[in-house]
Amino acid sequence: MISRARFTFYDLAPGEESFRDAVLNGLGRTPKSIPCKFFYDARGSALFEAICRLPEYYPTRTEVAILEENAAEIAAQIGPHSRLIEFGSGASTKARILLRALDRPAAYVPVDISREHLRDAAISLAEDFPSLAVVAVCADYTRPFPLPPLPGPSGKRVGFFPGSTIGNFEPDAAVDFLANYARILGAGGEMLIGVDLKKDPAILDAAYNDRAGVTAKFNLNLIERINRELDGDLDIDRFEHVAFYNEAEGRIEIYLRSLANQEAWIAGTPILFAEGELIHTEYSYKYSVPEFRALAAEANFRPVDTWTDPAELFSVHYFRVG
Ligand code: AVJ
Repeated sequence: MISRARFTFYDLAPGEESFRDAVLNGLGRTPKSIPCKFFYDARGSALFEAICRLPEYYPTRTEVAILEENAAEIAAQIGPHSRLIEFGSGASTKARILLRALDRPAAYVPVDISREHLRDAAISLAEDFPSLAVVAVCADYTRPFPLPPLPGPSGKRVGFFPGSTIGNFEPDAAVDFLANYARILGAGGEMLIGVDLKKDPAILDAAYNDRAGVTAKFNLNLIERINRELDGDLDIDRFEHVAFYNEAEGRIEIYLRSLANQEAWIAGTPILFAEGELIHTEYSYKYSVPEFRALAAEANFRPVDTWTDPAELFSVHYFRVG
């Protein structure tokens, strides 16, 4: 049993953009697009976990290795009695690495929009860390929201944003996102953030075009999700996965390409696709260490330290607000 004092659940009732509205709006425009957050239904989340285990997909295992290798140093930087605030906490796998290394952390605050997953993950974490207060917050962290009162008067508030999720935002939106994070953390707040590095484009291309075709399945799951949830009749065999590194923009670009001139019905609305037409589904920006520091500076974060792996595939930055 977990005592009420150690587990609190704040439901800020985030209003979610519906999949239906996002798809009909995104496919009604030229060029067509669907926001990448809709990848993550149950099947998409399982496929993403499979991506993380692919030999070509280095980011997850490299970031975990950086956190494990440098856990003591990161914990020393953070200091005792900290309150760790994670945006998009999911299963909290990476937070556990930090929490194990931290000196008497006072609170862990997972923030996620997915209510049931958040509750399950937060309860399981509270069970595994008996002296930690877990304050789960169901909220849309891309918007301002009030942080609930946190236990522990003395320690730092430290944001945690691993996984290079920041790479999904275009640079201006990434600055806005980080500025909102800085405001929520407040003066004296600090942040640990994982960012995928620029590197040999061949390594990047392979990571998003894996031989087993799992990334293609992950991307094409959007087509199947439309059919499942929006009464769609899209022919999955007439779309293909496209991913490439755009060197000028410093980003992986992911699309679904229509293989034919075709018409499909989605939620009672006809949609036309031309042969070769691309539906944009994701950007994944890559930043050198100085580039990311410059971006964070625009959001009022000052660099404190940065850790990378020996092959310089991935970076973990530590910043201070102000
Ligand atoms: C979860 C956004 C970090 O950009 O590498 C992986 C998502 N898309 N393969 C990434 C993703 C295709 C991933 N992020």
